[in-house]
Amino acid sequence: MIQLKVELGSRSYPVFIGQGLLSSDRVLGKVLTKEKSLVITNKKVGSLYFEELETAIRALGVEVTPLFIEDGEKHKNLETLSFIYDELIRQGYGRQSSIIALGGGVVGDIAGFAAATYQRGVPFIQIPTTLLAQVDSSVGGKTAINHSLGKNMIGAFYQPEAVIIDIGTLSSLPKRQVSSGLAEVIKYGLIRDAEFFSWLDANMHNLTNGQTEALCYAIEKSCSLKAEIVSQDERENGTRALLNFGHTFGHAIEVSGQYTKYLHGEAVAMGSMLALNMSRSMGFLDVSDVEKVRTVLKSAGLPTTPPNLGKSLYLKLMQRDKKVKNGRIRLVLLKDIGEAYISDDYDSKSLEFLLSMEG
Ligand SMILES: NC(=O)c1ccc[n+]([C@@H]2O[C@H](COP(=O)([O-])OP(=O)(O)OC[C@H]3O[C@@H](n4cnc5c(N)ncnc54)[C@H](O)[C@@H]3O)[C@@H](O)[C@H]2O)c1
Ligand SMILES: [Zn+2]
Repeated sequence: MIQLKVELGSRSYPVFIGQGLLSSDRVLGKVLTKEKSLVITNKKVGSLYFEELETAIRALGVEVTPLFIEDGEKHKNLETLSFIYDELIRQGYGRQSSIIALGGGVVGDIAGFAAATYQRGVPFIQIPTTLLAQVDSSVGGKTAINHSLGKNMIGAFYQPEAVIIDIGTLSSLPKRQVSSGLAEVIKYGLIRDAEFFSWLDANMHNLTNGQTEALCYAIEKSCSLKAEIVSQDERENGTRALLNFGHTFGHAIEVSGQYTKYLHGEAVAMGSMLALNMSRSMGFLDVSDVEKVRTVLKSAGLPTTPPNLGKSLYLKLMQRDKKVKNGRIRLVLLKDIGEAYISDDYDSKSLEFLLSMEG
């Protein structure tokens, strides 16, 4: 088992990564310090993994109850949140209880926001079961629900007490979801760690084949790179924005497909290609770098040709990004593989040219 730490002073917390951690009393015993726990999950994930977790929690003498929410992004909303609050109040949960999120990013985001706001904050534990949630959403304390007018519009920064990553849960995850998570893994290499990117280039087949050792290493690397960035800039005043590499373009692509056509990681993969080409127009990277990234994304099972939305739709959708400052879209670009920077003094004409080539 690997143990990392997100360093945030008195709010620091551990991230455990390994096989079989769902039933590990060593890990659960360390983090479950309250009398009662509520496990928020959905039917799909719950039917696969709740029983195993329940048995392990009971064995520690901690009460445990499941709460099933509907599966899917469209249920990450106020109605589901309200349902969670009702159950928390009805069943008498308080500060002497823990909320546990067992599921992908949807469950983690909404359970985290419920934990952040219920009684001004109750202890919260993340047990992510998708690759995307394991390498990204469960670490760093961003929690949110969607509003009908925008994604993740209502939320809070609220750090968990621990993150428990059992890579055994990936065995039931559909391949397309694994690929989606790999887009974020590749992103970490691109923005921060050229050596890790080379490792991904050489080992992608092991990851797509679900090899335990390779998965553990990739998750450990991703979580430690994210933890380092979050420790430096918890509330995204600077460095944390680098994590949005490929995302400003990607969000436009996601919205254009109404969040149903493309998975998040697929949109990020195509958005990354646009960000690489924009970096090239700024005088950074070689064609061979761009093509190397394309090959790695493809071998992860990801699309690399952005859809033809047309320049004006791309720009309109990108303007909605939370990162827009004084009406100017801020882009995360690469100076080199492994070295990202935030740019708002790029040439708008080059951006328009790039987007019109795609559209
Ligand atoms: N908080 C953050 O920092 C952050 C970062 C990135 C993404 N997100 C959020 O994460 C969400 C996307 O998360 P996601 O990609 O995990 O999607 P998801 O939570 O919808 O999970 C994808 C699907 O896989 C199923 N599933 C989960 N674990 C499984 C398993 N082990 N085996 C089989 N099926 C399983 C889920 O029930 C769901 O149907 C979005 O709402 C996004 O906004 C948040
Ligand atoms: Zn993302």
